[in-house]
Amino acid sequence: MKSLFYLLATPLLALAQNWPPPANVTGDTAVHDPSICLDKDGKYWLFTTSVDLQIITSEDRKAWTSIGTMWAPGEAVWTNKYAINGSLWAPDCHYINNEFWVYYAASTIGSRNSAIFLARSKTGLPGNWTNEGLVTSTSPTDNYNAIDPKFPLLPNDGSIANSSLTSLAMRNVNNGAIEGSYLFQVGSYYYLFSSWDVCCAGVNSTYNVRVARSTSPSGPFVDQDGVNALNGGGTLILGTHGSIIAPGGESVFMDKNDTVTLVYHYVTPNGSFLGLNGLNFSTGWPVVTALE
Ligand SMILES: *[C@@H]1O[C@H](CO)[C@@H](O)[C@H](O)[C@H]1NC(C)=O
Ligand SMILES: *[C@@H]1O[C@H](CO)[C@@H](O)[C@H](O)[C@H]1NC(C)=O
Ligand SMILES: *[C@@H]1O[C@H](CO)[C@@H](O)[C@H](O)[C@H]1NC(C)=O
Ligand SMILES: *[C@@H]1O[C@H](CO)[C@@H](O)[C@H](O)[C@H]1NC(C)=O
Ligand SMILES: *[C@@H]1O[C@H](CO)[C@@H](O)[C@H](O)[C@H]1NC(C)=O
Ligand SMILES: *[C@@H]1O[C@H](CO)[C@@H](O)[C@H](O)[C@H]1NC(C)=O
Ligand SMILES: *[C@@H]1O[C@H](CO)[C@@H](O)[C@H](O)[C@H]1NC(C)=O
Ligand SMILES: *[C@@H]1O[C@H](CO)[C@@H](O)[C@H](O)[C@H]1NC(C)=O
Repeated sequence: MKSLFYLLATPLLALAQNWPPPANVTGDTAVHDPSICLDKDGKYWLFTTSVDLQIITSEDRKAWTSIGTMWAPGEAVWTNKYAINGSLWAPDCHYINNEFWVYYAASTIGSRNSAIFLARSKTGLPGNWTNEGLVTSTSPTDNYNAIDPKFPLLPNDGSIANSSLTSLAMRNVNNGAIEGSYLFQVGSYYYLFSSWDVCCAGVNSTYNVRVARSTSPSGPFVDQDGVNALNGGGTLILGTHGSIIAPGGESVFMDKNDTVTLVYHYVTPNGSFLGLNGLNFSTGWPVVTALE
């Protein structure tokens, strides 16, 4: 009976998920864990997991061009204690007072010998970044991992305001596979996005985007069924559909026309690529929408 249930349930579930396709984008869109910020002139700047942190820009959010990397080859020596050959992860970009602030992680796959660093730049251009140093780190004995940064609140210098740790979400199934956290405020709620399951197994990846919300950035966060994110709560908002495999590594930014935009990567047989969709919060919960 159990296997029959799964046979019946799987196609029904697939039919029920009527997610729109990602927006059509062109150019240099092979990315992983992308983050986008807009500068004062309305130009889009995308940062992605890569060696030395690749910078990809666009005038219209549709055609993307790589302009180089934040660090020159071998320059980011301060990450060598955590990363290999400048392979840096999950940059989180914000444009604050005419300046780019990028938090990024240094680690290796499966390790908690990890750190988060901050870099700043007035121009955003390759080779024009200042290393603002270590923000926080973890060691193999910690039960969390200092990767996938997102700052919600910060003092003037961008360092950690309060060294006491607040847990926001936890899973007890599937090896506790939850990462890619991203906090975004809409109205009176803070929305905690996360990526669940397997990020990086090519076309066998099972990443999917989840959300929980709270009226406070320090929680408690609950999903749409009222389950606390610390007890595995998280409402599915985007998963594998059709040729879009394992969407995840998400971030969120406010586009020029006030469209809250979900930024993520998805897997194809040819690698992982940029996905963009709108988010409609009119019900109080984000619903993925189509973008041009
Ligand atoms: C992407 O482009 C194709 C071909 O032009 C078009 O059929 C499709 O509707 C477009 N998708 C979106 C989400 O705009
Ligand atoms: C790191 O870079 C060096 C020099 O290019 C290369 O020999 C080595 O194989 C690389 N290591 C890894 C783990 O990619
Ligand atoms: C960035 O470029 C400006 C000139 O455009 C220069 O004055 C500044 O020193 C550069 N900063 C870094 C960190 O390279
Ligand atoms: C740091 O956070 C803890 C836990 O949320 C709180 O009890 C404490 O008051 C905070 N300390 C400061 C200086 O804000
Ligand atoms: C995906 O899974 C299939 C079946 O287990 C396996 O043959 C294939 O090598 C896997 N592909 C990747 C990219 O891991
Ligand atoms: C993968 O790349 C090949 C060769 O460039 C191309 O023909 C094919 O359409 C691509 N497939 C997908 C799913 O993007
Ligand atoms: C958001 O969704 C609501 C309810 O489905 C719809 O009425 C509204 O037009 C949508 N807003 C936008 C900007 O698409
Ligand atoms: C503005 O928002 C609509 C969705 O409401 C989207 O389709 C369009 O591409 C957006 N334009 C820009 C420039 O972001």
